[in-house]
Amino acid sequence: MSERPGRNDPCWCGSGKKYKKCHLAADRAQARSGARARAHRGSPPGATLAGRIAARGDARPWGERKILIKTPEEIEGIRRASQLAREVLDGVEEIVGEGVATAAIDRWVHDTITAAGAIPATLGYRGFPASSCISINEVICHGIPGERELRSGDIVNVDVTPILDGYYGDASRMYLVGEVSEEARRLVEVARECLDLGIAAVRPGHTVGDIGHAIQVHAEGLGYSVVREMTGHGVGIEFHEPPEVAHVGEPGKGPRLVPGMVFTIEPMINAGTWKLQILDDGWTAVTQDRSLSAQWEHTVAVTADGVDVLTA
Ligand code: MF3
Ligand code: CO
Ligand code: CO
Repeated sequence: MSERPGRNDPCWCGSGKKYKKCHLAADRAQARSGARARAHRGSPPGATLAGRIAARGDARPWGERKILIKTPEEIEGIRRASQLAREVLDGVEEIVGEGVATAAIDRWVHDTITAAGAIPATLGYRGFPASSCISINEVICHGIPGERELRSGDIVNVDVTPILDGYYGDASRMYLVGEVSEEARRLVEVARECLDLGIAAVRPGHTVGDIGHAIQVHAEGLGYSVVREMTGHGVGIEFHEPPEVAHVGEPGKGPRLVPGMVFTIEPMINAGTWKLQILDDGWTAVTQDRSLSAQWEHTVAVTADGVDVLTA
């Protein structure tokens, strides 16, 4: 359940100011513009997919935006989009295999998302050319689907973000192809544990830093590294909203978690250095030392007493 503070209560953001002097006006304006944005983005009868894709995008620059507290109605909308993401990732399990080109997986993702009446958020997003990100082995994230065929031993992340009725759900999983080395299997498993530990740190009163801390301690304790330059993010009304959810952090630091916040947790865990490099295509992020990388992602909502994993 989403609860807004009273006008004279301390603001939910932890500023120490009264709510009316801090986020009250912004929350109201965003509730209104959120509704407007959805009406605008909704599918007018006969609208082409291309038209719908061209019509959307993150509305305002990052710096001008504040954390959105979602209403119960909005959370149900985000849950529906998130459940579509889950179904798509379940289906990918069936088609991943040796000899399958990543473009073929992407085509299936595209067709499944659009058949459900949704839009793949990545397609055309800042020029990204596909309906999913597919990231193999040393690719950390934002891999562009193409002619590369999956081979035995590959570890592969598939990341999908459907927009359904104007709401965004964002999730990714790892898939193992054929015979995978023990070393790669273990990395995939530890990345999954990192996501689970991050989720377990979500509850009102905790902070974004508590999430990053839980992940960092686990990964580094086992000798792995955590990617710094890419983070989780608020999600739901737009693709990438505040706050940034770093996967490293200090307990008690960062924005305070309050009911109605919705964001992703998507730790990228590397076998070697945490440093990354972006390839010449402008998107593909690889480990600087070409060591293996693994990532899992869920969209979660903060509830009155804990967490609701919307993409589970
Ligand atoms: N889905 C990715 C995320 O988890 C974002 C992909 S943005 C793209 O945030 F442009 F690369 F597609
Ligand atoms: Co994603
Ligand atoms: Co994300």
